[in-house]
Amino acid sequence: MHNNILARKVALITGGAKRIGRAITETFHTQGFDVIIHYHHSQTDAHHLAQTLNAIRPNSAKTLHASLAVVNDKQSLKAFKDTALSLFGRIDTLIHNASSFYPTDLGQDFDDLQKAWDDLFLTNAKAPLFLSQAFYDELAKRHGAIVSLLDIHARDKPFLGYPIYNMAKSAHLAMVQSLALEFAPSIRVNGVSPGVNIFPDDNQNSQLNDSTKAHLMASVPLAKIGTPQDIAETVLFLANAPYITGQVLAVDGGRSLTLKGG
Ligand SMILES: NC(=O)c1ccc[n+]([C@@H]2O[C@H](COP(=O)([O-])OP(=O)(O)OC[C@H]3O[C@@H](n4cnc5c(N)ncnc54)[C@H](OP(=O)(O)O)[C@@H]3O)[C@@H](O)[C@H]2O)c1
Repeated sequence: MHNNILARKVALITGGAKRIGRAITETFHTQGFDVIIHYHHSQTDAHHLAQTLNAIRPNSAKTLHASLAVVNDKQSLKAFKDTALSLFGRIDTLIHNASSFYPTDLGQDFDDLQKAWDDLFLTNAKAPLFLSQAFYDELAKRHGAIVSLLDIHARDKPFLGYPIYNMAKSAHLAMVQSLALEFAPSIRVNGVSPGVNIFPDDNQNSQLNDSTKAHLMASVPLAKIGTPQDIAETVLFLANAPYITGQVLAVDGGRSLTLKGG
């Protein structure tokens, strides 16, 4: 039987071109979803990924360029939503994956700290909320799902040196639990907390040097670093689990059990 394009579910993955986002995009696509690959700076990766997926199944992957700062402005957010909906005519699953991640030193310059606060809270907390609100009607119509990428450091065990990131991810975790109630029974909202599943690109974050990596690896009971695929499969599970909402699953090889913070 040939594919009926109108019957295919659609997933929108923020930051879906690279790393964990890419694994999520590919995993949903393999399971028959059409995918909207949102990207900001990674145009080449996004277009290449869409091309690869469209070669597997024609007209099944599209790209969407935007800064998450669209959520700061009513018209920009509406334009983002309208464009996203025009790509396949529907959205069933919204995945909040895009994030910024870097340390903040509370001794640093006031203006720099304010900038970091605005950016880390924008990507890790504010955008997920306002995108969820923007797509509420569409997701409710589809009895859809929202899945948020959180962090094992968002609950009880803050990552030393990253206070603003920790705070922003905690707010995102609270969003998952709050929206699970606010959006029930129409939309399910869940979260996945990676442990150490892929290191930041070295050239972007030299603080995570080799000894830190060795220290992190030694702290994982399953004695290995996880993979983006481990995360992607859990995101897919939660997107498809009809009786689960408001839950956060750690995919961390047991690391959150032994975590001291820091
Ligand atoms: N890596 C891990 O082991 C780990 C651990 C704990 C939690 N997590 C969480 O899991 C998720 C994925 O992790 P990751 O390491 O794969 O993420 P990442 O590479 O750090 O970031 C994912 C994408 O977010 C997008 N992004 C950042 N700022 C943006 C902005 N202002 N506007 C629009 N897009 C923006 C970027 O898109 P462009 O490249 O297109 O600019 C980037 O590729 C994140 O939410 C992260 O916090 C990951």
